[in-house]
Amino acid sequence: MRTATAIANANIALAKYWGKRAYAGNYPAVPSLSVTLAGLQTTTTVSFERSLSVDELMLNGVAQEGKELDRVAALLDRIRAVMLSPCFARVVSANGFPTASGLASSASGFAALAAASTRAAGLDVELDAVSDLARRSSASAARSVFGGFVSLDAGPIAVSNERLAAKMFAPADALDMHVLVCVVTEAAKTIGSTEAMRRTAKESSLYDAWLAVAPVQYASICDSLNRADFEALGRAAEASALTMHASAFAARIVYGTQSTFALLQSVRRLRDSGTLVFATMDAGPHVKVLVQSPNVAGVREQLVKSGHVLRVIDAQPCAQGVRFVDEDTR
Ligand code: ADP
Ligand code: DP6
Repeated sequence: MRTATAIANANIALAKYWGKRAYAGNYPAVPSLSVTLAGLQTTTTVSFERSLSVDELMLNGVAQEGKELDRVAALLDRIRAVMLSPCFARVVSANGFPTASGLASSASGFAALAAASTRAAGLDVELDAVSDLARRSSASAARSVFGGFVSLDAGPIAVSNERLAAKMFAPADALDMHVLVCVVTEAAKTIGSTEAMRRTAKESSLYDAWLAVAPVQYASICDSLNRADFEALGRAAEASALTMHASAFAARIVYGTQSTFALLQSVRRLRDSGTLVFATMDAGPHVKVLVQSPNVAGVREQLVKSGHVLRVIDAQPCAQGVRFVDEDTR
């Protein structure tokens, strides 16, 4: 039996990935840039065991079947394809935050799984290869392999099977920024991001507009980060999120609830009154508020006062990418 345990942190995209190349392999249609977040993490143990006749997945203490298990088995199949004497695996994983709810559990989940399974199989743990492996299961997971601010290019335009890994764009201390994750529900979302992207590409009259605008917004976010200009970065990140959601809206996919929209208004009111604060949202109802250190306490108080937040997680950029438990330096 060969076992390895890896930890990966979730990330939140400032420039959103939404939409895939039409060919196989899960290549993004647009470039994205994220920040890896301290405090939101997944721990995954993979054991390859000769005695098993199928792969097994225990997620947050519950045995999984169906598409959750299939997604994990698909990654393990890629590992088995290069193992000398392949066998099935037992996977035990725990997310330290809500699963399938728009808090990027698939990102930290598949980054941790890619790292743990590579090591448990006795393969070379080269981070680019781990990031590419994670991307094939969930593209945002490619970014969670690295710490700090992380970019992921769009896939090649023509059919490709080449390696596409994320890379560190800037270190965690490149910008003073907190992400106040406003959790508005503990429930799982009704439509996963993979299916929502597929429907957006097929049904949204705004999808072509998104594909044209996203790279421009990405370039502006990269430029703001290079200049450590929080205000420009916040504005562009908010625009990226709202443009992405507009494309999904046009395919009748609405992730926001009343609380989501109320919080977006609160953020706008705070900004109108002179506080530098911006919002972003992913494939779920939670609002993530971008704010700098001096304003964290005041903004947090206002968000809680709104009555629309179950709890606020104050997350900061995390310097660490994926790591193994015996090397963990938390
Ligand atoms: P989220 O916003 O949480 O990323 P997604 O719908 O994109 O939501 O992905 C959630 C799915 O990712 C889950 O249904 C499950 O299939 C998978 N997933 C989440 N956490 C893990 C994990 N720790 N290990 C393996 N798969 C996971
Ligand atoms: C809105 O990476 O979950 O969070 O590749 O189909 O697994 P798949 O999609 P996923 O999508 C993330 C979408 C997003 C934006 C982002 O993280 O860039």
